Amino acid sequence: MSGLRNVANPNPVRVITVTSGKGGVGKTNVSVNMSVALAASGQNVLLMDADLGLANVDVLLGLQPSYNLSHVVNGERSLEEVMVSGPEGLKVIPASSGLKNME
Ligand SMILES: Nc1ncnc2c1ncn2[C@@H]1O[C@H](COP(=O)(O)OP(=O)(O)OP(=O)(O)O)[C@@H](O)[C@H]1O
Ligand SMILES: [Mg+2]
Repeated sequence: MSGLRNVANPNPVRVITVTSGKGGVGKTNVSVNMSVALAASGQNVLLMDADLGLANVDVLLGLQPSYNLSHVVNGERSLEEVMVSGPEGLKVIPASSGLKNME
């Protein structure tokens, strides 16, 4: 099946999920560094912060986004509208911190 899909679309989107069974083991740092490295190598990269309770991808990258995933969930903004640019052309979808309904 994946062979047929590749014929239909030779440049499929690849998703890499970084997760762990324990907190504070380096997921965010690995995700940010891998994303910047892939973007620097010419890949088109979108990094989505899935830490819905205490998001910090934006903090690590020194970004100060006005909107984040919580605004998409509550219908105020579209995904494109909350997307911000990071280094090497990396695109980032920031998440929120401290919002009970997002946890
Ligand atoms: N390779 C590494 N070597 C040493 N320290 C590291 C490394 N990667 C991350 N750290 C440090 O470990 C701490 C946690 O890193 P990070 O925030 O990336 O983890 P996390 O798995 O995303 O945490 P959380 O579960 O809270 O989201 C930070 O203080 C970070 O500086
Ligand atoms: Mg983290």
